[in-house]
Amino acid sequence: MERLDGQVAIVTGGARGIGAGIVGVLREEGANVVVADKDGRAAEEFVSSLDPGGADAAALAVDVTSRDDLAALVAATLERWGRIDILAANAGIYPHIPFAELDPEKFDELIAINVRGAVFAAQACSEPMRSRRYGRIVLTSSITGPITGQAGYAHYGASKAAMLGFMRSAAVELADAGVTVNAVLPGNVRTPGFGDLGEEHQRAMLAAIPLGVLGEPSDVGWAVRFLASPEARYITGQTLVIDGGQVLPESV
Ligand SMILES: NC(=O)c1ccc[n+]([C@@H]2O[C@H](COP(=O)([O-])OP(=O)(O)OC[C@H]3O[C@@H](n4cnc5c(N)ncnc54)[C@H](O)[C@@H]3O)[C@@H](O)[C@H]2O)c1
Repeated sequence: MERLDGQVAIVTGGARGIGAGIVGVLREEGANVVVADKDGRAAEEFVSSLDPGGADAAALAVDVTSRDDLAALVAATLERWGRIDILAANAGIYPHIPFAELDPEKFDELIAINVRGAVFAAQACSEPMRSRRYGRIVLTSSITGPITGQAGYAHYGASKAAMLGFMRSAAVELADAGVTVNAVLPGNVRTPGFGDLGEEHQRAMLAAIPLGVLGEPSDVGWAVRFLASPEARYITGQTLVIDGGQVLPESV
């Protein structure tokens, strides 16, 4: 595959975890990257930790639930580089909430970040992509919801499946503009958010993974890099599972 030199990527939730893994890979492959994260300070710290010799990177405080923030993100990116080639819509939360304890406020908050945030980030980036007749939008969904189920994650599974419903119709609508929309479905990836779920959870997940290790953020980063490449031009509305084989076994 050709390198991504000169391309411009936006990664939401890019300050840590899977987002930071996506930033690392895209930048290693030559793309200039905007690290857009609700935690603006973490985004700044992450960007200043990157090798200054590599491609350009910028940090921006962006809450994906705010359309004003998303408009400012697109405007700042266009002002600096004049183009947006890649959007990795990755920001998301996954609080463990037993279904019986789920209330409308918690559900709305999760949907606002995981679904609405991805939808309107894609909408904001699709306009400049459409005008250049080129774009790659890659959503971070999950195996949870689209393929598997897990106690305490009914709300989360609903949000990650909803992202795929959005993806398929958006892919059709943006196809004639040269913009593809695909999704990565990670299994269990070693990130700060995943670590917060506790050691017991990690052990249970690890036992269900045929390859015998948790995923690393860069494993998802490389999958995003493929779907975001010019060479993936004939793939749209599709999913790529990155889970060490977790969805395969008939028994643990
Ligand atoms: N870690 C896993 O095992 C796993 C598995 C499947 C899917 N995912 C998905 O991958 C994505 C990243 O997960 P992670 O494990 O890296 O999480 P994480 O909690 O380690 O990092 C998430 C980042 O997103 C940012 N963020 C949260 N809300 C935001 C908002 N409203 N606007 C902008 N940024 C916001 C946070 O500040 C943080 O930097 C999520 O969409 C998650 O659902 C994770």
